[in-house]
Amino acid sequence: MRYLFELSKEHKTLPTSEVFSCLKAEMINYNIIESNEDVLIIETIEKEDKIKKLADKLALTFFIDEFLFSCVSSAEKIKKKAIDYPIKKNGSVAIRYRNRSDNTIDSQSIVQPLAEIYSNKRKVILVKPDIEIRGIITKSTVYVCLKIKEVNRRQFEQRKVQYRPFFSPISIHPKLARSLVNIACVKKNEVLLDPFCGTGGLLLEAGLIGIKIIGSDIEKKMIEGSKITMDFYKINNYELFCSDIGDIKKKIGKVDAVVTDLPYGKATTTKGEDIKQLYDRAFKNISHVLKQQGKAVIGLSNKDMIYLGEKYLTLIEVHDFRAHRSLIRYFAVYQK
Ligand SMILES: C[S@@+](CC[C@H](N)C(=O)[O-])C[C@H]1O[C@@H](n2cnc3c(N)ncnc32)[C@H](O)[C@@H]1O
Repeated sequence: MRYLFELSKEHKTLPTSEVFSCLKAEMINYNIIESNEDVLIIETIEKEDKIKKLADKLALTFFIDEFLFSCVSSAEKIKKKAIDYPIKKNGSVAIRYRNRSDNTIDSQSIVQPLAEIYSNKRKVILVKPDIEIRGIITKSTVYVCLKIKEVNRRQFEQRKVQYRPFFSPISIHPKLARSLVNIACVKKNEVLLDPFCGTGGLLLEAGLIGIKIIGSDIEKKMIEGSKITMDFYKINNYELFCSDIGDIKKKIGKVDAVVTDLPYGKATTTKGEDIKQLYDRAFKNISHVLKQQGKAVIGLSNKDMIYLGEKYLTLIEVHDFRAHRSLIRYFAVYQK
């Protein structure tokens, strides 16, 4: 079966990387049919339920669909293709479309040909239909699919740090936090460490998808605040303690993954330590506690610091992210 992931386009590289990492974590074999900034289409023999479940983890995908076909945006072409791709499931239908291009389009030129073919001998119901046909319109192409699951992205807005019981402006957006956790390829019940956990924003997103979490921070108030947050969200599987990065190896065993956002000296303290020295100590100690083949996703404030990690770990990819007008963060993905 072919599946289409409609990507959020909030970032150039993260949405695709997030889907690939989730597929890998779930050990799903697939072939890539098409990959661009709007959609990722894969082919796999895996059961639909397993693919559908990915929607519970993903942050930067809007929908997971069954892919039927794609063609140029012309009513005639859409109709011709739709004839070749009949819907096998029984039940009522609704036809919806999403225009992801900047072009203004005549929606009827998309909906009409699909309706002619797919609503023939079927009931059309707009609320809770059995089958939802989706036309995704991009600059050059229309992708036609059947909805499998919409990702609940509202939850991430609701968990922004200002709505959590412990607030500090240092926390990154939950959507970004979840995607970074996903990029670390951790499975349910595996252990993820954030040794600069701050308010616990990354740990929270990991804990909510069933990952065992360990967090530490040099500031006692951060640990106390993180504990309040974990309890508020009913996360049980956590260990939180106050520690300098240099001491964590004495306190924990090996972990499956590390996801962390290093301090950058303005809003977040380095306790007066030179940033280069702190980052070097961080990489050394993270590498020490990380299992062989484990991934470390690390937020850095400066592009030049990426190489420091390569002393201890293998660099896989880098995603840059504009946090404010003047601040670009780099999320480097390493493997042990
Ligand atoms: C960018 S913030 C982390 C934000 C976090 N991801 C969140 O969601 O709130 C970096 C954290 O590193 C901590 N920190 C600074 N120096 C440290 C050190 N030497 N060892 C451990 N933690 C340290 C700071 O107290 C701060 O909470």
